[in-house]
Amino acid sequence: RDLNDLRQTLAEWRDAKEQNGGARIALVPTMGALHAGHLALVEAARRSGTRVVASIFVNPKQFGPNEDLARYPRREAADARLLTEAGCDLLWMPPVEVMYPDGFATTVSVAGITDHLDGAARPGHFDGVATVVCKLFNQVRPDAAYFGEKDFQQLAVIRRMVADLDMDLEVVGVPTQRDDDGLALSSRNIYLDEEQRAKAVALPRALGVAARAIGRGEEAAAVLEDARTTLIAAGFEVDYVAVADAETLVPNPAADRPRRLLAAARMGTTRLIDNVPIERG
Ligand code: PAJ
Repeated sequence: RDLNDLRQTLAEWRDAKEQNGGARIALVPTMGALHAGHLALVEAARRSGTRVVASIFVNPKQFGPNEDLARYPRREAADARLLTEAGCDLLWMPPVEVMYPDGFATTVSVAGITDHLDGAARPGHFDGVATVVCKLFNQVRPDAAYFGEKDFQQLAVIRRMVADLDMDLEVVGVPTQRDDDGLALSSRNIYLDEEQRAKAVALPRALGVAARAIGRGEEAAAVLEDARTTLIAAGFEVDYVAVADAETLVPNPAADRPRRLLAAARMGTTRLIDNVPIERG
């Protein structure tokens, strides 16, 4: 929880790196309430490097005024146990006054890529994400950082920030981990009651159906409208269902670009997001 302790430990590891020439430091940023999706990031990090740092910080700057900051699940002890079992070497849990002391005045804002989708639906959200991830990178100075494709636009924002600001690290994207029925794992799934959880499977199913149809060459606008109708029939309130360029996140890309199908929808008060690639053929 102490930045000087963190830096000292990491400095010792980096010195050891010079001795054996191989040690890398990998960072897995999270907001806790860990599940198998987070642990897949830790495992991927572990396979690539010798030292894995995970962070848990429920970042107030990325929550909107009407979002779930106050009720976001907090489970430090269980999270620490899961991380130990997954082979994480260090857990960085900065107190909010270490991250944002009085007088804190800087925002990292990535333009363009944040104009659409969740950027449009959650004003300021990606500024909060970019700012905290930039801080975490400066605190830990990792050789590589691991992010889930589950938050596809977030991953693209981080890649853009790292490229634009010459941050000297590798950004690694890890495929979305899903429950047996296909629902993407999320810390927010615990907000769903049994009936809502059963209905929520419509989200990955509708995305799968729509991605295949678009991949076959069906007209995207009509397919997206069908997907929207399916989600509404299942009980969702739909924020967006859209095709975007997989690199720039610009909507309605040409068919020869790498494309991603992304959606955000609310089941009751719980907002779920998901995305899948569009493969031609
Ligand atoms: P959080 O929602 O806790 O997610 C932490 C990391 O786990 C993110 O990179 C996210 O994409 C990944 N993740 C979540 N669910 C996943 C799943 N089902 N499969 C694969 N990866 C998954 O994302 C954040 O926290 C924050 O915005 C953060 C980057 C920590 C900045 O505050």
